[in-house]
Amino acid sequence: MKGLVLSGGKGTRLRPITHTGAKQLVPIANKPVLFYGLEALVEAGIEEIGIVVGDTGEEIRRAVGDGSQFGARVEYISQLQPLGLAHAVQTARSFLEGSPFVMYLGDNFITGGIHSVVEEFRRDSPDVLILLKQMPDPERFGVAELEQGRVVRLEEKPVKPRSDLVLVGVYCFQPSIFEAVDSISPSARGELEITDAIQWQIDRGRRVTSHLVEGRWIDTGKMDDLLECNRVVLDMLEERREGTVSADSKLLGKVILEEGSEVVHSTIRGPVIVGAHTRVVDSFVGPFTALYHHVLVEGSEIEHSIVLEHTVIRGASKIEDSLIGRDVVIEKSDTRPRAHKLMLGDHSRVSLA
Ligand code: DAU
Repeated sequence: MKGLVLSGGKGTRLRPITHTGAKQLVPIANKPVLFYGLEALVEAGIEEIGIVVGDTGEEIRRAVGDGSQFGARVEYISQLQPLGLAHAVQTARSFLEGSPFVMYLGDNFITGGIHSVVEEFRRDSPDVLILLKQMPDPERFGVAELEQGRVVRLEEKPVKPRSDLVLVGVYCFQPSIFEAVDSISPSARGELEITDAIQWQIDRGRRVTSHLVEGRWIDTGKMDDLLECNRVVLDMLEERREGTVSADSKLLGKVILEEGSEVVHSTIRGPVIVGAHTRVVDSFVGPFTALYHHVLVEGSEIEHSIVLEHTVIRGASKIEDSLIGRDVVIEKSDTRPRAHKLMLGDHSRVSLA
């Protein structure tokens, strides 16, 4: 069995972060979200993996390489335009070569892995196995309708959902999916929807089974969901102390210090991860914060946030519920007039207290 990981697309909901980088590489507890998916595939025994990439392909290639760091063999498949999940499957036709496969959306995160799902698919050999999860806001996703446990209808982001069971971004397919993706037409949003391709198979009496996800599932495409995912993963991590801590600092709860990090005259209340060569000086870092590598937090307070690499935060009181990009500088200024002085990229969001 092969794996197909989708890492193209636009990432408009995570702008401005995605103006300059792939949404699948935004770190969750200091590890790109895409890596969790690759690890889940390898853990389930799937080592031959194709990654569909778009405009951000170079960055994904640099991060994942040939896949050997995950124990996988990775091939890259270029999708010239993000024309939909079913279009991505068409694009990967020669890589998949008549093999059954698991399709994993590169911005999805699941706890507990996919081992049991892949086992179920191997054992029962349905045409399609979909993963479902009850959600309070089904209209944001693909929605499934079941009758006596059988999948009878799927709809992509319906205005009036018929159930609260949504399609999780992991699908198991037999090669029969190709006939379906070749037969459907683009949806109202102009994409070839995988939801429609699966519905096409249901309509022709093919066997489409479902598996209810028991653990947590988070589609990290939006900032609030990313922060929530960061919270969930930080809660699960084991403590590690590879950095240095000054005698006058206080570390409370679970604090992970990566290699070369430094905590000086500061209080950190975990769960928190401080990335490699990141410095926390005269500051308070509160629960559910992930500072990526080469960050400086000085004379500041920050909590429940994700900060990307090479960013400097100096004299800020207090940052919360935030996603801060790479090479950003946030600093207090004493010059007059006393005002907020901003240089923000397109589609930035600022909430002033
Ligand atoms: O997250 C689960 C949801 O994923 C499902 O409930 C929906 O049924 C399914 O259509 C999908 O919806 P999204 O609108 O969230 O998909 P998104 O456009 O975010 O794309 C998902 C991943 O696939 C993302 O990592 C980008 C990648 N992608 C997307 C498109 C449209 C590609 O690689 N190529 C594409 O053409």
